[in-house]
Amino acid sequence: MANLKSNHTRASFEKYARFLDERIDEQEVFVFPPSNAFLYGKHKFIQGAQNFYPQNNGSFTGEITKDMLDEFNIDTVIIGHSERRNILFENDIFLKQKFDFALRHNWNIVYCIGENEAVFNANNTKDFLKQQLSFIDLKYQKLIIAYEPVWAIGTGKTANIDIIEDILNFLKNLSDAYLLYGGSVNIKNIAQISQIRNCDGVLVGTSSWNEVDFLNLIRGAKCC
Ligand code: PGA
Repeated sequence: MANLKSNHTRASFEKYARFLDERIDEQEVFVFPPSNAFLYGKHKFIQGAQNFYPQNNGSFTGEITKDMLDEFNIDTVIIGHSERRNILFENDIFLKQKFDFALRHNWNIVYCIGENEAVFNANNTKDFLKQQLSFIDLKYQKLIIAYEPVWAIGTGKTANIDIIEDILNFLKNLSDAYLLYGGSVNIKNIAQISQIRNCDGVLVGTSSWNEVDFLNLIRGAKCC
């Protein structure tokens, strides 16, 4: 899954999409462009939304609502990304509202959780993750949980393979959801990460922003 964050204009994303459409097979590739760059039409990848406000429409200045996502047939959303939690101050109560809205509309939900460095160093990761998950319905059929340690996002510091495996095993005991790892996934570590037991995929930021890099990652994961 590619999280393009606040990168790409519609013009550059059209180019990105065309590049992927010509090279990937119909498979489980998801791309989350910024909302200004959403594209119409059918693509080989599933287009998702990085963010939304949990209403159909209304007076929510600057927000993206369901009617706007429907226009692009988008029914896959990210909720709880650490940048929205930390920079945009989205708290667990609001994330629960988003989750419940998405569940009511039967959307695919990529729910992000992850500890910061202090929690990690204090060896409290599992309790912390459990708490983050306590607000949502872990039995929801279309739930995908992305474990993304905050200290690994955009830093080039990928979590150690044994740690990822341990956390994913822990999460597997809590939920039957698909499990992803995210945090500085790149061409050097994709093969190893994608082979971890219980790792059903990866959520990639930086290494997905360029279409050639992202295609190489897809191929890197496939060849394992
Ligand atoms: P990164 O971002 O790959 O740049 O670490 C991951 C993410 O934020 O999902």
